[in-house]
Amino acid sequence: MSSPDVCPPPPEVSAGAHIDSYEKYKELYERSVQEPNAFWGEIANDFYWRVPPPQPLLRYNFDVTKGKIFIEWMKGGVTNICYNVLDRNIHEKKLGDKVAFYWEGNEPAESTSVTYAELLKKVCRFANVLRSQGVTKGDRVSIYMPMVIELVVAMLACARIGAIHSIVFAGFSAESLCERILDSNCSLLITADGFFRGDKLINLKQIADEALKKCDEKNYHVERCIVLKHLGRDEVTCDGMNKTSPPCKRLCADGQTSWNPSRDLWWHDLVKDASAECEPEWCDAEDELFILYTSGSTGKPKGVVHTVGGYMIFTATTFKYVFDYHGDDVYWCTADIGWITGHSYLTYGPLANGATSVLFEGLPIYPDISRMWQIIDKYNVSKFYTAPTAIRLLMKYGEEPVKRHSRKSLKILGTVGEPINPEAWLWYHNVVGEKRCPIVDTFWQTETGGHVLTPLPGATVTKPGSATFPFFGVVPAILNESGEELEGEAEGYLVFKQPWPAIMRTVYGNRQRFETTYFKKFPGYYVTGDGCRRDKDGYYWITGRIDDMLNVSGHLLSTAEVESALVEHSSVAEAAVVSHPHPVKGECLYCFVTLRDGHEFTKKLTDQLKILVREKIGPIATPDYIQNAPGLPKTRSGKIMRRVLRKIAKNDHDLGDISTLADTSVIHQLFENRCQIVD
Ligand code: WTA
Repeated sequence: MSSPDVCPPPPEVSAGAHIDSYEKYKELYERSVQEPNAFWGEIANDFYWRVPPPQPLLRYNFDVTKGKIFIEWMKGGVTNICYNVLDRNIHEKKLGDKVAFYWEGNEPAESTSVTYAELLKKVCRFANVLRSQGVTKGDRVSIYMPMVIELVVAMLACARIGAIHSIVFAGFSAESLCERILDSNCSLLITADGFFRGDKLINLKQIADEALKKCDEKNYHVERCIVLKHLGRDEVTCDGMNKTSPPCKRLCADGQTSWNPSRDLWWHDLVKDASAECEPEWCDAEDELFILYTSGSTGKPKGVVHTVGGYMIFTATTFKYVFDYHGDDVYWCTADIGWITGHSYLTYGPLANGATSVLFEGLPIYPDISRMWQIIDKYNVSKFYTAPTAIRLLMKYGEEPVKRHSRKSLKILGTVGEPINPEAWLWYHNVVGEKRCPIVDTFWQTETGGHVLTPLPGATVTKPGSATFPFFGVVPAILNESGEELEGEAEGYLVFKQPWPAIMRTVYGNRQRFETTYFKKFPGYYVTGDGCRRDKDGYYWITGRIDDMLNVSGHLLSTAEVESALVEHSSVAEAAVVSHPHPVKGECLYCFVTLRDGHEFTKKLTDQLKILVREKIGPIATPDYIQNAPGLPKTRSGKIMRRVLRKIAKNDHDLGDISTLADTSVIHQLFENRCQIVD
């Protein structure tokens, strides 16, 4: 595939864009970092405040040597995020009849939609239910639900009454749910009876029951469990299907829900008589909005805390500029709401802008491999946001399933979650977007709340694989091991020098861990944990987690770099590289490669791959071992678990905690295929 070094924004995209040139971006950027109070103050003015935030908006300390780390934006301002994303749009912007979400179910025939006015009513009813169950401001509520509109309703209802939501991705195990309930001290759990992932029935209530039992065993008793009936309900359109006319699996699977009458309550019973009006709880901008757990290097997940005001203005602003949002767009983010991408760019960011989104319950290749492209055509999606792992998966099936659908509505393509290798970037650009859609490779983290490095579609000349430049208010730097800032072309630790509005405020219940994880290594900076390279033109390239860096004969290499080289080979669909002990070099490269359908793993192929890596990076990066990997161990959010691969490479069967693994069956196969290591 020909690889352009740079991709300028297409003139037709720049023409109507909010930020239509690099100069304009630069001008706004300079202002945003030099005068953050004025810059964000103007943005905050667009929102509804009971009490406007006082100046200066920002107070902080980023330096552990000078005292406690703290970040405050707009403290003293009083608002409500739910009011801003719903009532304000309906009353001020007259968007009541506009569709907020098109819901597309697991089966192509299942769909429904909800307007802003309908969503507000649902949220108010459920907020009243939560209040009647005794939930008040500051209480924590755990949410463990499939991708349904009620998940959004539950989170916004919490936000409306000032309760703190803690959403646990519905793919997590009972053990993980229990751990998160205990850590956040939740008194109430919201879940559903079950749902389908492709062909597979997930009995969610049963897993929730197990989690609550585990909590009981630890002497922690969740008092209430509200259960949404999703399997049996038929208010969702099933295009003529009903319980007596399969194949609507969801309808047929009804009636198996386990029940604890002293604790469990049906959602539909509770909302039936609840009022559709609910006065919001007016919150300080720095009141806690939600907790979201993210994996930590010690193994115990960290409860990342975000607060109301800063998160609201930052997710709204990034959404508007990064996807160049306009009123007639239909936007689709494929992430699950259980992850930060679903919080910021499926719920809060799009709703704050009054956008229409697709909320998809299903899987990318179910029931067939062109499902994604079919959905894009069905709803005329104009802005599409997905992850490199999905792109690589779809790429495996070639161009034909994509081309079966027109995709003419597409304007901008986004990616997030891991470094995107240039090969996948180019396929996304050339095949999916037919070269007319700019790609926004957005780098950010659960901790950053929103995009921190990203192109702007009408302004940034992109380079395949680079997240390009900082968003407004974000000041990146690259440090060496001694903590010195590196100028110009450089590679090292990616850090940020000052807070933007949506940076996390603490680790729930563990301020010490917050300071140690993010601020201790390099005093004065927020440390991302990612490696990064700045090229001669000032573009930022994420090289992968710093803990995925390896040192071969004294040279620092990034696993992502080597993976990128491997997947450039036409036989390779995906690659994962780990460091492996080596008696002379210290560490060497052990590579796992997944081949495209119809390709064979041969000695000739491994020789070619070694040459390819040598050519792309240099002899120092020549892989020592290349192993055939029909499947890779991934977390449910699609991240490759390199820790597990390192153990497999060493033939060490003690894999530690693998509860976040999506599919454990790949492990056995990988041990079988292990390279024989001969001295
Ligand atoms: C990685 C997801 C390269 C990175 C929003 C980061 C990326 C971690 C990108 C956070 C990107 C995310 N390019 N790497 N565009 N986006 N990452 O908390 O290593 O699930 O630190 O947030 O994903 O993952 P998290």
